[in-house]
Amino acid sequence: MSVDIHKEKILVLDFGSQYTQLIARRVRECRVYCEIQPFNIRLEKIERFNPKGIILSGGPSSVYSEKAPNCSLDIFKLDIPILGICYGMQFMAHLLGGQVKGSSRGEYGQTKLRIDDFTDLFAGFENNTSIDVWMSHGDKIQTMPPGFTSIAHSENSPIAAIKDKESRVFGIQFHPEVAHTPRGMEILKNFLYHICKCLPNWTMESFIENSIDEIRREIKNKKVICALSGGVDSSVVAALLHRAIGDQLVCVFVNNGLLRKNEAEEVRAVFGRNYKMNLHYIDAENSFLQKLKGVTDPELKRKIIGNEFIYLFEKEAEDIGEVEYLAQGTLYPDVIESVSFKGPSATIKSHHNVGGLPEKMNLKLIEPLRELFKDEVRIAGSELGLPDEIINRQPFPGPGLAVRILGEITKERLSILREADAIVSKEIRKTAFYSRIWQSFAVLLPVKTVGVMGDERTYENVIALRVVQSLDGMTADWVKLPYELLGRLANRIINEVKGVNRVVYDISSKPPSTIEWE
Ligand code: XMP
Repeated sequence: MSVDIHKEKILVLDFGSQYTQLIARRVRECRVYCEIQPFNIRLEKIERFNPKGIILSGGPSSVYSEKAPNCSLDIFKLDIPILGICYGMQFMAHLLGGQVKGSSRGEYGQTKLRIDDFTDLFAGFENNTSIDVWMSHGDKIQTMPPGFTSIAHSENSPIAAIKDKESRVFGIQFHPEVAHTPRGMEILKNFLYHICKCLPNWTMESFIENSIDEIRREIKNKKVICALSGGVDSSVVAALLHRAIGDQLVCVFVNNGLLRKNEAEEVRAVFGRNYKMNLHYIDAENSFLQKLKGVTDPELKRKIIGNEFIYLFEKEAEDIGEVEYLAQGTLYPDVIESVSFKGPSATIKSHHNVGGLPEKMNLKLIEPLRELFKDEVRIAGSELGLPDEIINRQPFPGPGLAVRILGEITKERLSILREADAIVSKEIRKTAFYSRIWQSFAVLLPVKTVGVMGDERTYENVIALRVVQSLDGMTADWVKLPYELLGRLANRIINEVKGVNRVVYDISSKPPSTIEWE
């Protein structure tokens, strides 16, 4: 029997902090289910959601600024425990009749917090009256609202944590969710387990069990189609649906000829042979390359690839017949109506996703991962028995190697890039970098340079290496790989890949550059 993992829920109200999603992830790490909603969510919606506790996130504003986000006083009348973090605490204090003041001395970074009350939030801290916490604020609370007492202070904040025990409302000036507050998780657990009385029953096992029940209830005996790319998200969607409905799931894998070395074979082996999924493999290399012939404009490449994909996918769906649902790997960060700054990335390149498909094809959507963060998707994949190579895959753009070959795409240029990319992937996987970075890949440039190999003058291609660190792909920084590793990559590529006589390293961050070159 499946457990109702959604009975014990926490609501995180987003006041615009860059850490809001991190708060939600930490709560889930404590095995309590939680969701993020914008600060101005309507009260009835909160009541319907029926959380056992509410967390008010931080935010970049000052409570006195004109555009300061605020929510209704009524949430304090719901008789639900509340924890305000940073701006969340200042806003709460201000709203409930306390006084917040701008200060010439803010607190940014690591600070010592001195605990004055070892119950509730700080229960279990008696052995450590002063702890390291991460602060990031200019304003501070000067007078507490009626009914509140101060429970901790720091050098620059005489009131750094507050509580109103009777109404179970708490506030902390620091960020318990960040790694720089080493005992932050204990504070969150005190709030979740002892104050909100939540049970830690949000586990991946229970999530999968629940999802399977839900999927079966919804789909009944209908057919579902899923575009499988071999990336983490679509792979986990496919594995989950396959476990729930078996052969009612039809996966379509389109080999567009723009994939990495051995990628198509790997996907066929894992899903076709190991999982014995109903996998339709479409070899469309020729039709894609034909349509891309002579095309050098990056946006045009993306549009051609997107359209061709949709055309082939629709055709396949028609051939299969009687399909009612389209499965998609939408994740929780795509669903959150966040008030946080999202970055301009989405509008800079037309991303080739299957987003336009459901309306066009008149299919109902099924998105079984829409409650999960990326790291949770990986755990789900692991529970569902997917191999590590798939679970730990780096993101790979829909238009594939087409946007990593600058200039015209030909079979010969694809083969050069594929070989170079395979070396990068193999060498980086051997190091600890692979699991720590966002992406590492090769790019084929549209220039030739002079070199000398043996006694011969060469005039060959240049490969650029792109290795970046990022949290979500919205911003990124280049990775300072050790010279020795860079040297090994360059050596191997120049020696082993015919047609390359020079390797360069891309040291641009995003912004102003983007991660992919096109
Ligand atoms: P950019 O190049 O915009 O990339 O900095 C940000 C992240 O998105 C990936 N990317 C794509 N993913 N379809 C995708 O599914 C696309 O068309 C696409 N273009 C870029 C890129 O690899 C990076 O991780």
